[in-house]
Amino acid sequence: MCGIVGYVGNREASAVLIEALKRLEYRGYDSSGIAVLTQSGEKNPLTVIKSPGQISTLEKKVKISGSHTGISHTRWATHGAPNEVNAHPHTDQENSIAVVHNGIIDNHLALKRELAEKGHVFRSKTDSEVIPHIIYEEYKANGNDLFDAVRRAVKKLRGSYAIIVLHRDHPDILVCAREKSPMVLGAGVNEGFIASDVTALLKYTNRFMFMDDGDIAKVTRNGIYIEGPSGEVAAHEWTQVDWSIEDAEKGGFRHFMIKEIFEQPRSLHQSQAGWRSEEDNIPRDLARAEMIRIIACGTSYHAGMVGKHLFERFTGSPTVVSMASEYRFADTTSDNPLMIFITQSGETLDTIMAAREARSRGLKTVAITNVVGSTITRETDITMYQRSGPEIGVAASKTFTSQLMMMYLFSAHMGYHKGYIKRDDYNSIKEHLRHTIRAVEGILNNTAPIKEMGEWFSRCENAFYLGRYINFPTALEGALKMKEISYIHSEGYPAGELKHGPLALLTDKTPIIALVASDHTYEKMLGNIGECSARGSPVIAIAPEGDAEVEKYTDRVLYYPNVDPLFSPIPISVVLQLLAYHAADHRGCSIDKPRNLAKSVTVE
Ligand code: AGP
Repeated sequence: MCGIVGYVGNREASAVLIEALKRLEYRGYDSSGIAVLTQSGEKNPLTVIKSPGQISTLEKKVKISGSHTGISHTRWATHGAPNEVNAHPHTDQENSIAVVHNGIIDNHLALKRELAEKGHVFRSKTDSEVIPHIIYEEYKANGNDLFDAVRRAVKKLRGSYAIIVLHRDHPDILVCAREKSPMVLGAGVNEGFIASDVTALLKYTNRFMFMDDGDIAKVTRNGIYIEGPSGEVAAHEWTQVDWSIEDAEKGGFRHFMIKEIFEQPRSLHQSQAGWRSEEDNIPRDLARAEMIRIIACGTSYHAGMVGKHLFERFTGSPTVVSMASEYRFADTTSDNPLMIFITQSGETLDTIMAAREARSRGLKTVAITNVVGSTITRETDITMYQRSGPEIGVAASKTFTSQLMMMYLFSAHMGYHKGYIKRDDYNSIKEHLRHTIRAVEGILNNTAPIKEMGEWFSRCENAFYLGRYINFPTALEGALKMKEISYIHSEGYPAGELKHGPLALLTDKTPIIALVASDHTYEKMLGNIGECSARGSPVIAIAPEGDAEVEKYTDRVLYYPNVDPLFSPIPISVVLQLLAYHAADHRGCSIDKPRNLAKSVTVE
């Protein structure tokens, strides 16, 4: 979604703001803009420059020197087309105040009507433009106090927002406010930063303070002052984020996604090694949960689906998985499940709202996330970090396999403390996970056959991914990966369901990806492959090394190193990520920033 940045300090603000915006490109955007204050003696020191399209286009237009305070924005259109007028920053009619906004102002039409009656004229079709106009009114009416004006203005807004406000008469101050949209403050030496996420600022600082809903902050080069929703001084802690700028760069790879796929042995190892400290923070009574409910969206939901099987197997507790966007609107149930929220970004609004809903029902809540200090960590009772390192590609790859790792470890931990599995079983699960990481290394050491298959696949327009049991979610995730980056229509299906309708769609141009594991589903899966081959569909089996049987049913097989079948979702997912990547690359797709998608989905 949109990205925002604010800077005040001694550096050239326009350069910092553009550089930081480039780090936010991965969130997805269609236009961008910048507003800075210059001390050039001109009548109005506030300069606003905007542009549709790439940040590089904006960069070419920004020829400013002597700016030390400013704000910038990447826009992902919700209200009004992606053009220069609708791009942020927006200003009041005197061009005295500039505002960047992430989120949606639900009552903008009513506010616009009210302001229009007072003579305000709006230039854009956006909801955001009302904000500088309201602040202008409050500023005039309340003694030219910018902080107070913003505090009064946000009380009139309904919806979600993270805003940064710049005023031409306050050259050393930025005021920002947050409600249901992420916002982080950063500190350097004699400089202050604001951004929608930490990756924007890693080049400049590792010291961050995460704002809460209802907070308003004043950021100057000398420090930060925050007030909470009732006007109380909000003293949040500073957090050291140990991600490096190199982690957030391509490091010689053509795309972030392929770099992140290849990082998986390391990210999986970090998740497993980090589990030791996570484990220490888990209250023992958690294991008494009689029922578990996992909530997530997209790829994280697929990790939760794998988790369902693991929690049921290792703890014996019935486990259900719900999409966050659906759970919120479901009827309240009388049961008392342990609620587990999976969100790599920690900012997905549907998941956050579901966590709030669960807390309001008095349920115990756990978050599994990748981002230290993200919103979900404050909306739940317990946080577990997956430690994948930053993921820039919009399509989740290493964060997914780390989420799977967390599902294995957390469910086995719960089962052991519940007395459902033995200490030896718990240790053996950890050993299987170490072996699985070596299997992932094996796949990455020889990707040529997958690349070749991906290039063949790139010519297709429709495909089915079939899996059973613990690899049904793997099929869903493989299909999601293929559709989001290559735009090939792909559907994940439980292999046994195909004959109940979708078989009608099979042709010799509809490839089937069949996920084979040597468990109790094996023979049935071979039967399903036979069904599809008999109808002329090309079948690509993803099967464990050494399985000669599967070649009798199809001659297209991609092998993954042998692991215990219960752990096969991890290596199979890596094969499917590579398949999607190479298909998309061969089609010339925008792999790291697929059309219409955003990394962090902060709207409902
Ligand atoms: C994954 O490739 C997708 N981009 C998307 O489905 C994502 O997993 C989903 O939006 C949830 O994100 P989260 O884990 O940050 O909550």
